[in-house]
Amino acid sequence: MKKTLILSAAVLFSAVCFAQKADRPVYLDPHAPVEERVEDALSRMTLEEKVGMTTAQSKFSSRGVPRLGIPEVWHTDGPHGIRPEVLWDEWDQAGWTNDSCTAFPALVNLAATWDKEMSLLYGRSIGEEARYRKKDILLGPGINICRTPLNGRNFEYMGEDPYLAGQMVVPYIQGVQENGVAACVKHYAVNNQEFQRTQSNSVVDDRTLYEIYLPAFKAAVVEGNAWSIMGSYNLYNGQFNCHNKKLLVDILKGEWGFDGVVVSDWGGCRDDEEAVLNGLDIEMGTWTNGLTGAASDSYRNYHMAAPYLKGLREGKYTTKELDDKVRRILRLIFRTSMRPEPNYGRFVCPEHYQAARDISAAGVVLLKNDNNALPLNVPQGGKILVVGENAVKKMVVGGGSSNLKTAYEVNPLEGLQNAFGKNAEIVWARGYVGDTSTSYNNVDTGQDLTDNRTPKELIAEAVEMAKDADYVIFVGGLNKSAHQDNESTDRLQITLPYGQEKVILALAEVAKNIVVVNISGSAVAMPWAGEVDAIVQGWYGGTETGNALADVLTGKVNPSGRLPFTVPFKYEDGPIKTERQYPGIKEEGDEFWQTHYDEGVYVGYRWYSSKKIKVQFPFGHGLSYTTFAYSNAKADKAEMTADQTLKVTVDVTNTGSVDGAEVVQLYINDVKSTIDRPVKELKNFEKVYLKAGETKTVTFEIDAEDLSYFDADKHEWVAEPGKFKALLGSSSEDVRSTVNFKLN
Ligand code: BGC
Repeated sequence: MKKTLILSAAVLFSAVCFAQKADRPVYLDPHAPVEERVEDALSRMTLEEKVGMTTAQSKFSSRGVPRLGIPEVWHTDGPHGIRPEVLWDEWDQAGWTNDSCTAFPALVNLAATWDKEMSLLYGRSIGEEARYRKKDILLGPGINICRTPLNGRNFEYMGEDPYLAGQMVVPYIQGVQENGVAACVKHYAVNNQEFQRTQSNSVVDDRTLYEIYLPAFKAAVVEGNAWSIMGSYNLYNGQFNCHNKKLLVDILKGEWGFDGVVVSDWGGCRDDEEAVLNGLDIEMGTWTNGLTGAASDSYRNYHMAAPYLKGLREGKYTTKELDDKVRRILRLIFRTSMRPEPNYGRFVCPEHYQAARDISAAGVVLLKNDNNALPLNVPQGGKILVVGENAVKKMVVGGGSSNLKTAYEVNPLEGLQNAFGKNAEIVWARGYVGDTSTSYNNVDTGQDLTDNRTPKELIAEAVEMAKDADYVIFVGGLNKSAHQDNESTDRLQITLPYGQEKVILALAEVAKNIVVVNISGSAVAMPWAGEVDAIVQGWYGGTETGNALADVLTGKVNPSGRLPFTVPFKYEDGPIKTERQYPGIKEEGDEFWQTHYDEGVYVGYRWYSSKKIKVQFPFGHGLSYTTFAYSNAKADKAEMTADQTLKVTVDVTNTGSVDGAEVVQLYINDVKSTIDRPVKELKNFEKVYLKAGETKTVTFEIDAEDLSYFDADKHEWVAEPGKFKALLGSSSEDVRSTVNFKLN
């Protein structure tokens, strides 16, 4: 009897469940295929609900469909950590006390690791932080090419080479998206300066566009499967990029088959009709009259809000574009907040601190190391003098929208103190006064950096203290304040600001050993390089920046970072020669600034090596505490056809006495071409970890695509038959082995 009762209860229960399941709309079934969920949800929505989804409802969120239980979409900066919460309708801080994040290294630091594993670790970690904070779209990573060292946002990007940026961005995206958070790759496209960023038109020919400025975005979309992308503020071809037909409709959604969401940069949407017709999906940050003034409830007046609805009702638009936008937004929601297997992320945890430290250290670049000045070899009880504002200034704060409120930040001085403890005396001198501000967008570091002494007094103090020091470590560079690696302002010079050169030269005269650590997001000219023993390129390394730097200076980590950009001797050596190229010109009658990319594909090392211009430190350069030898470079065949791949191998040996990592780089040289081509282009690289004495064989596969250029007339990639060279080396200028082959 009892058994029968249990049985009938079970039957009843499953009947109820079945009925519930049958009634449940497909879009709410987390295990139904995404496209079915999208179509089902779309079919249930009113016109108003659909239009509603295409605009912001607050500073950092866009609408869902509350009636259907479809949540709003939460966006967050990005790209180095999760931005502190702001007020609903303002940029001002909300004043939360539980939103201090892990600050990860600036993306240029990540690029300098040349290590895809590091990029995956970065993406996973920041994705977990975003998920914990219930964010659906992370506004990053940024991958605009470093066209000029003066661009204020180079620190948020991945260097001067499209292949490097493309390789490094893909694992970041995958890591973020594993967490059910959409990466939003930015700023698409040809957005390479901050000067007049909302008023400047980039004039670029198609070959340059396809060879230099698009490949990293293409990799992000096609290989990384990015779920969203952000249009940039500037214009291209005379049309604003947030609704640029060629960039968004023809290339992104057409040629690359992007199925994600195009988000406008904040205030980047500038036109009702273009926004509707030219591929924008979510409009964020607009002020009611376009960009300058706000009114209360401005969201209702966004280009894609009231005017869009009116246009639809009056028959100006059909629902064709609208349904496409809404499908994309729904797809994003089903991939993120309504995904099948929700996870909850994690935030400010030891694993994330360790990741930040490891990534930052792996990207520190040892530029010069005369007489093995590094790693530091301080006698017991010896003295290290640290000089410079950047040794103490907390620099997670500042820089623009990447500004973060971090749980803590270890500065370089503290990093060295942590490393040496009581084994050495570590003292600090200011050396120069740079930027004494300590707060940005209401985030305050709590430091007091005021110092009213004259430069002469500061130098005298540092020089006096340097006389009996075993090592002098100067820590300077830029600092993310206005014009010093900062969103919306470009740098004004390539040299060090605040009289730092004088300090370095004065110290070099008296110091026993002098090491300069330059912290910056782009190249700094170093006319003083010959006067110092060692130079280290450090970065804005985030929460753990000081510990990461100390790891390298002490030899706990053998440096393996490589420059993601060229450091020229002087600005004038570079490809930008005219105002028309940079910062652009605005002639009478012009509505916008015109920036002509006249240097074409000759960006970064493509320029310097093709023109045989000597540089201070080449792209790809970075020393180690060990040495590496290349041998036995060969190809598996002497000739290949366009449908074959050529295998090139080279043996790399760690010839020193400590373990270390070498970044083996493969550049292609087209020996003879009908069009003008750079003498070398990076087409592959691999970071190999080698124990002291160990040898590994590195294999690269070369296919026709690696040999091709973009033929703008035919609108296709062309590999011309003939002779090619595979250049294997340790930097763009340090080619160790060459393998010749032919394409038939
Ligand atoms: C920046 C974006 C950022 C957005 C939101 C804009 O000013 O250009 O990179 O994601 O603001 O803060």
